[in-house]
Amino acid sequence: MMAVAVSGPIVLIGAGNMGGAMLGGWLKSGVKGGDVLVIDPGPPPAMAKLIADNGVSHAAAAPEGIRAGVLFLAVKPQIMDAVLPPLKGLVGPETVIVSVAAGKTLRFIESHLGEAATVRAMPNTPAMIGRGVTGAYANARVTEAQRALVHDLLKVSGPVEWVETEADIDAVTAVSGSGPAYVFYLVECMAEAGRKAGLKADLAMRLARETVAGAGELLHQSPDEAAQLRQNVTSPGGTTAAALAILMADDGIQPLFDKAIAAARKRAEELAG
Ligand SMILES: NC(=O)c1ccc[n+]([C@@H]2O[C@H](COP(=O)([O-])OP(=O)(O)OC[C@H]3O[C@@H](n4cnc5c(N)ncnc54)[C@H](OP(=O)(O)O)[C@@H]3O)[C@@H](O)[C@H]2O)c1
Repeated sequence: MMAVAVSGPIVLIGAGNMGGAMLGGWLKSGVKGGDVLVIDPGPPPAMAKLIADNGVSHAAAAPEGIRAGVLFLAVKPQIMDAVLPPLKGLVGPETVIVSVAAGKTLRFIESHLGEAATVRAMPNTPAMIGRGVTGAYANARVTEAQRALVHDLLKVSGPVEWVETEADIDAVTAVSGSGPAYVFYLVECMAEAGRKAGLKADLAMRLARETVAGAGELLHQSPDEAAQLRQNVTSPGGTTAAALAILMADDGIQPLFDKAIAAARKRAEELAG
């Protein structure tokens, strides 16, 4: 059972994909509906049902006279400028703010909501099925108790990794935030290569998709390192070794990933301004 904010409700701003996934996870892990207030002018129907079925409070806009224990920001970055100012009254000395908005810095959040205990978190899309991973950075105002509470709230979507500097969030974004797209593209590349090797396109896609999904699940369940799991399927002089000789060559995948992650990180820095 999760620790719940003692200083006020968990106020969730935005019950879309990410906010909705978090709310679903909180309720499953023992947070009482009555301890959560969702502010969203038009939550999607599935969310409206989740809210109604679990006795979660809901408002279209920030009500007067409430101080949030946790203010959880899960709206699109582009609308944060408009969404944040009316929320200022929800922030008191005991409030911890958590933002999952990509690219929105602590300075930006502070410029709208004032100096407060604030956490910037970067989840990724597998959070939708409780299998994400989240990088998080807490500013100096966040107390140990608040950090523990935020950790509990974030971990409903998968493991939480705390980083030492806010700049590290840009690298987290490049590795795990954007990372699922790299893996989906790997599936596309493997399927296309399979088609070129003579398989029907749909068969090649099914093989590639299930291979990546199954390998991911094996990685998830096994205590072994990724390198060990790779070695386990690589017999000397065999077919896997022949393919890995290409993929692991000096001009193989590693330099491409170095460039790709550096580009994503640079873009995250640019977007943060
Ligand atoms: N999706 C991901 O995998 C992912 C990963 C990492 C970080 N994030 C971050 O999570 C945040 C949310 O992304 P998302 O994909 O969940 O977006 P989303 O599905 O569009 O959810 C945002 C929700 O906020 C609602 N909303 C709009 N205006 C509002 C207001 N004034 N007050 C309260 N709620 C309002 C939206 O309603 P309408 O639809 O009616 O506008 C929608 O229900 C973003 O900042 C994104 O960077 C997402």
